[in-house]
Amino acid sequence: MEKKFGLIGSTLTHSFSKSYFDEKFFREGLRDYHYELYPLDSVDGLKKLLDENPELYGLNVTIPYKEQVLKFLSDIDPTAKNIGAVNVIKIHNGKLTGFNTDSDAFYETLEKWFPQISDAKALVLGTGGSSKAVQQALKKLSVPFEIVSREKGKAAHTYESLEKDGTPISDAQLIINTTPLGMAPNTNNFPPINYELLTSHHYVYDLIYNPARTMFIQKAEMHGATIKNGLEMLQFQAEKAWAIWNN
Ligand SMILES: NC(=O)c1ccc[n+]([C@@H]2O[C@H](COP(=O)([O-])OP(=O)(O)OC[C@H]3O[C@@H](n4cnc5c(N)ncnc54)[C@H](OP(=O)(O)O)[C@@H]3O)[C@@H](O)[C@H]2O)c1
Repeated sequence: MEKKFGLIGSTLTHSFSKSYFDEKFFREGLRDYHYELYPLDSVDGLKKLLDENPELYGLNVTIPYKEQVLKFLSDIDPTAKNIGAVNVIKIHNGKLTGFNTDSDAFYETLEKWFPQISDAKALVLGTGGSSKAVQQALKKLSVPFEIVSREKGKAAHTYESLEKDGTPISDAQLIINTTPLGMAPNTNNFPPINYELLTSHHYVYDLIYNPARTMFIQKAEMHGATIKNGLEMLQFQAEKAWAIWNN
């Protein structure tokens, strides 16, 4: 029986999810399983997509719909509810249940990469869906953190306030980019922080996986920081999504 899965988001041409699941289905001999990209101009296009594709069993959700999609769900997993963002939807008998696998994927990859994490402070750039998942993981690890936003009043710091006082950058051993700055095709962009403040003491994690080496990663590496991109997190969250769809 044909089973369809897919990804919704705004611009999906640079997504790795399709090739990841196409290869997985091929490797595991799942010939009737298909994974498609469904770019939507608005999250309201989801209803039409579901009506036109009754064989859909599951969806991944990406930028910018992880929060906007909540209004379409019949049910939401407690972790996703707590985070306020959904990146996986399971479709069963026309009902949509939302989950968040980003948080656990970030948690597991962070713990593996940075074993002394419990002694660190973190600085999270961005306040969107993946930022919320990252914050949940940091809370679970009891890592104190502060957030940076472009907007005053939305977080402890703005990029401008960090220009005047860079102490939060120096003090945070772990800096995480959850903004799309530097993501393909806009690979020349990077978060506007003072990279001169980074040292070999810093761990710099970019959630972006395409390109593998963003400007953010390159600049951090130039100052001696230990770096990590989002590829492993993507793979972990995809396997967690797969387990949810098959449960
Ligand atoms: N590796 C993985 O598995 C994985 C998982 C999830 C996400 N990601 C990546 O993480 C990135 C963000 O995804 P998301 O779903 O969290 O997106 P999102 O919900 O749209 O949030 C992005 C946040 O970044 C900030 N931002 C947006 N545009 C910006 C700009 N021009 N300059 C500075 N800050 C900006 C905004 O925070 P403020 O308005 O407060 O500044 C915004 O809330 C994407 O590149 C995505 O591919 C990777």
